[in-house]
Amino acid sequence: MAQKLWRNANIYSPVDRGRPACGMEQGELVHHPDGALLVEDGLIVAVGSEEEVLAGLSGAATDEVDCCGRCLIPGFVDPHSHMCCAALREEEFSQRLLGTPYLEILRQGGGILSSVRAVAEVDDQTLLASTLRQVRRALNFGTTSLEIKSGYGLDTANELKMLRVIGHVAGHTGVDVVATFLGAHAVPPVFRDNAEGYVDLLINEMLPAVCAQGIARFCDVFCEEGVFSRKQSRRLLLAAQAHGLAVKLHADEVHDLGGAGLAAELAARSADHLLAASEANLQAMAAAGVIATLLPATAYSLKKPYARARLMLEKGLALALATDCNPGSSYTESMPFVIGLAVLNMGLTPAEALTGATLNAAYAIGLADRVGSLTPGKQADFLLLEGESPAILAYHAGVSSVLRVMKRGEQCVADVSSEPGGDRI
Ligand code: NIG
Ligand code: FE
Repeated sequence: MAQKLWRNANIYSPVDRGRPACGMEQGELVHHPDGALLVEDGLIVAVGSEEEVLAGLSGAATDEVDCCGRCLIPGFVDPHSHMCCAALREEEFSQRLLGTPYLEILRQGGGILSSVRAVAEVDDQTLLASTLRQVRRALNFGTTSLEIKSGYGLDTANELKMLRVIGHVAGHTGVDVVATFLGAHAVPPVFRDNAEGYVDLLINEMLPAVCAQGIARFCDVFCEEGVFSRKQSRRLLLAAQAHGLAVKLHADEVHDLGGAGLAAELAARSADHLLAASEANLQAMAAAGVIATLLPATAYSLKKPYARARLMLEKGLALALATDCNPGSSYTESMPFVIGLAVLNMGLTPAEALTGATLNAAYAIGLADRVGSLTPGKQADFLLLEGESPAILAYHAGVSSVLRVMKRGEQCVADVSSEPGGDRI
C-alpha cells in the first residue's frame, strides 16, 4: 500500500492517555521540531522526529511532502454545534445589539422558536443543503469531526427529520459526525405554560422514536430559566440514560440553575457553556469526570463574561472548546476564531486551547478512539498551518491560518458556493 510521508514539520499534538487531559495536563503537548508523520490507508502509521520515523520505514516507495517547517496539528473536533438549521436570524442580532436580552427574544416567540418555524417549512433536501454549507465552511477552517444537535424540530416528526439530515452529513462531506438529540431545546408554543407536559411527550414519545431511528448518540437539554428546570432536565436525562443514550447539558449559560451540579450527579459526558456555573458545582464536575465544553464565541456574541477557564483548570477539569455554531447566540463555524477567543479572552495558553479543540473535544463526543490526537492507529486527520506553532491560530486574528485540511489522509477543500437550494444559509 502507498505510504505518504509528511516531513520537515513542526508537529504538535496532545498526548492521548486513554482519557481526557485534565487540569495542568491540558497544556502538555508533544512537540517534534523536525517532525514527520507517516500515513497509510488513511491512518497514522508513525509520528515522531524525522530520524525516528525514517528509521522505522520498511523501504517501500513513499510519497513525500516537505512541510517547510510549518506547524502540523490534529484536525479540529467541534463538539457542540447546531449546524442543522434552515435560516439566519440577522434581525434578532440587531435587536440584541440594541439591548433586548437573548432569553427575552425567546420568551416573545423568537430566537430558537424562529429557527423551529424555519425548519418546519423545509423538506429534507433543503435542510441538508443548508447544513452542508455550514459543515463545509467548518471543514475549510479545519474541523474534521463534529457534533450536530437536533432541537429546531420540537415535535417528533421534525426532530426525526433533523436527525435524518444530520445522519447524511458524513456521507456528503467525509467529516465524522456525531448526532445529539436536543428535543428539549425550548418549550414549543403548543405546550406554553405546560413544560411538564412537553417533558412527558419527550420521554414517552420522542425518546423512544429517536432511539428506534438509531442516529442520535447523545441526549442534551437546555437547562435554563424559562426553558427547562433542573428537575425537568433530570427527569428527561434519566429517561435518556435508561434508553442507552449518553447525556450532556446546556448548563448555566445565562443563569445558575445548578446544571453543572446535575451534570456531575448524572455523570454526564459533558456540561456545556458554564458561564454562570458555581465554583462548588464545577468542583463536583471535576470529581465526577464531566468534561467542561466551553463556547467562547457565545460569550462574545451575547456580550457576557466568559467562562472561568483558569479556575476550571485549577479544579482539575478537562476543557473542550466548541463553536456552538447556531443562527442565534453564536454564528460562526470557525474553530480558529474560537481558539483565538479562548486564548485572548479566557486566558488559555495556545497549547491548552489546542488540546480543548482536539483531544478533549473528541472525548466529549465519544470519538477519541479514532481522532483528536496524532497517535499511530488513529485516522490521519490533520492540518498544516501557516506558522510554526499553534500560537498562530490566535495570533493571526480574524483569518484562518489553516493552509491544508487532511481527512483520513486526503486533502479536503470544500466548495461552499455550489449547493443547490442551500442559499438560505
Ligand atoms: O447553545 N442556548 C441554547 N442553544 C443554543 C442557541 C440556539 C439558538 O439560539 O438557536 C446555545 O447557545
Ligand atoms: Fe448550544
